Amino acid sequence: MDPLYGDRGRILEYFHSHGILVDPKALDRILKASTGLLVEDLLSESVLSNGYLSESEVISVLRNGSGVTHPRYEVYAPDIRVRSSVDDFRNYFLSRYNKLKKILSLSSSMRGSIPIRAAKRVQGEVKIVGMVSDVSTTMNGHKKVVLEDHEDQITAIMMKDKGTAKELILNDEVIGVVGSISHGKGDPVIFANEIIHPDIPNRFIDDSGREPSYVASLSDIHVGSKTFRKQDFMKMINWIKSTREEAENLKYLILSGDVVDGIGVYPGQEDDLEVLNPLEQYLKLAEYISEVPEDVTVFLMPGNHDIVRLAEPQPVFPEKIRKEFPSNTVLLPNPYNLVLEERNVLVYHGMSLNDMVELIPGMNFDTIGGALEELLKRRHLAPRYGGKTPLIPSSEDFHVIEKVPDIFITGHVHSHALGNYKGVRYVNSSTWQSQTEYQKMMNFSPKPSIMTLFDLHSRSVITKNFES
Ligand SMILES: [Fe+2]
Repeated sequence: MDPLYGDRGRILEYFHSHGILVDPKALDRILKASTGLLVEDLLSESVLSNGYLSESEVISVLRNGSGVTHPRYEVYAPDIRVRSSVDDFRNYFLSRYNKLKKILSLSSSMRGSIPIRAAKRVQGEVKIVGMVSDVSTTMNGHKKVVLEDHEDQITAIMMKDKGTAKELILNDEVIGVVGSISHGKGDPVIFANEIIHPDIPNRFIDDSGREPSYVASLSDIHVGSKTFRKQDFMKMINWIKSTREEAENLKYLILSGDVVDGIGVYPGQEDDLEVLNPLEQYLKLAEYISEVPEDVTVFLMPGNHDIVRLAEPQPVFPEKIRKEFPSNTVLLPNPYNLVLEERNVLVYHGMSLNDMVELIPGMNFDTIGGALEELLKRRHLAPRYGGKTPLIPSSEDFHVIEKVPDIFITGHVHSHALGNYKGVRYVNSSTWQSQTEYQKMMNFSPKPSIMTLFDLHSRSVITKNFES
């Protein structure tokens, strides 16, 4: 078996090649099916027509006994080996591992780390870097984490009486472990004394004393929806035009995805739309944006409601949309590290926040800032592969946070959260849409119509509320 790719990668690739997203719990069920499972049976299930494989669907196939006599590897491995996209998956995970290992190697705690295969021959303390392929808790409450690198894998044990057992460890993230190798009857294991995340280095950040230069963050405008807050949005545009207060030094405006409501995003969306044609929705937005003074650069990024493909990284808007916007508009892919006046402004729509809310104990949309910090700590925008975040396994992992951001901007969840993590100012940017029927059902109240302004030359963050 090829570590860093493994069973998990093969199964995901298989479903991906059939255009199906897999719930992580469904994947766990497939992996743990002790009698073997004919994966193709899952594909034949009519329930897969929605492009999503849930845990309950796997349970149902297992219960019906389909394919139980087939050894797992024989079923799907030969089919997959001929597909060229196998390399895409392998290269994707290699890229993720290599980039994050490089970041980890900058940490003094990881100096002297060695490959897992070499570590297994050591007596005593070692340092290793691995990608997490499995996390479980033993009956005694200890945590077991399987780590993989280019050539081997090892189980790391986090004893429950040590702080390490309480650490949040996610599948597919890359971590460093400092611990002691134990040689027992089976394969050696490592008892972890310390878990090291790639994390943000401690930096000294000083105000430059230069004249302010503001970058304004807006997200989830949802033009075309009946619940788009046009009045607030125009109030905000008029404030920019007034050049009063901070607007005088406003240089950049970032719209981080879901700039329009789109169509066909969820069942019955037509009933919630004022403008049915997506192209017309963009034309409306272009009309509003043309009111923004020419010396303000407007950045447009797609999100899950927009017209480009859903899977990330999302490309920039097509030319037919670009040509409708004024010349001070710049298109961005999602995600993107924007460099403005020598500052790194990392912009990401934020689809992975849906997964992070489920993966972090006690997390919810009102405390979403904590999820942004967990992403920064892992130096990755979507640490858990799959789940509710569709990712394209390209040969490079574009979700690794390679450059330390000065400002980190996300949206998507319609909350508003500001914070500072080790000198990185961040925001989960406000929406310009009122509570939707779906949000009402989920008992979630959005925090709309807030513009967040970051000064590129100081630590200052200002919010302007345009809610009427
Ligand atoms: Fe979104």
